[in-house]
Amino acid sequence: MSINKEIKRITTETIRNMKGKEKISMLTSYDFTIAQMVDAGGVDAILVGDSASNVMAGHETTLPITLDQMIYHAQSVVRGVSKALVVVDLPFGCYQSDPQRALDSAIRIMKESGAHAVKLEGGIEIEKSVKRIVKAGIPVMGHLGLTPQSIYQFGTYKVRAKEEAEAEKLIEDAKFLEEAGAFSVVMEKIPAALAKKVTESISIPTIGIGAGPHCDGQVLVVHDMLGMTHEFSPKFLRRYLNLYDEITSAVQNYVKDVKSVDFPNENEQY
Ligand code: KIV
Repeated sequence: MSINKEIKRITTETIRNMKGKEKISMLTSYDFTIAQMVDAGGVDAILVGDSASNVMAGHETTLPITLDQMIYHAQSVVRGVSKALVVVDLPFGCYQSDPQRALDSAIRIMKESGAHAVKLEGGIEIEKSVKRIVKAGIPVMGHLGLTPQSIYQFGTYKVRAKEEAEAEKLIEDAKFLEEAGAFSVVMEKIPAALAKKVTESISIPTIGIGAGPHCDGQVLVVHDMLGMTHEFSPKFLRRYLNLYDEITSAVQNYVKDVKSVDFPNENEQY
């Protein structure tokens, strides 16, 4: 039996069952090499986020990334992962217009990448799309609070749902997602007390980003937590490395060695 077959894969069922027992760890990945390391580090789930639009392609928002590009990233990640659950974002424009389009997009992701679930932003307003995808047997993760695909409607990346009306709607949306069959829900940049209330009100796991410690799990963008991005510094972000400086300094040393003909030396040639 190969090593891969001995590894017990994490499924949506595993994630559901972790609620109330063990916190869920999730990070993003967009390529084979990072996904391999993230998986080896032991995360429970990997998100192929549409934040690829920012960190991989350099766009200001998540809106420009296409379904084909998301599938390319997802294929690369899936090839590097042997244990974690792989969830892929449905990008802006391929699920909001009608449920059939949403289902077709989700089917393409599942068929062409080999990923295990899709994530959609929004609540009751995307009801039909969520239900259609779930009915086709595709696991859905929801995403509430700060939903970056709606950034031009919000006009700011500030904390969401501080006002009562928006907080009430978020609770309703979380309950709706649970009823519609979502297996978990991401909550981004909302007050910790609200995240606690939602987590206690639904039976599916909540995964927070900037939503405090009471969520059932946490997610971060891997480039942010590794310190590869350096201009993005929200309060909720904990940096575990400072790779921006490490990599820049390694490149500076390489340039110096090439210029001074120190590299390659006699052991680094044929
Ligand atoms: O695209 C992404 O990285 C996300 C996370 C911020 C949750 O949706």
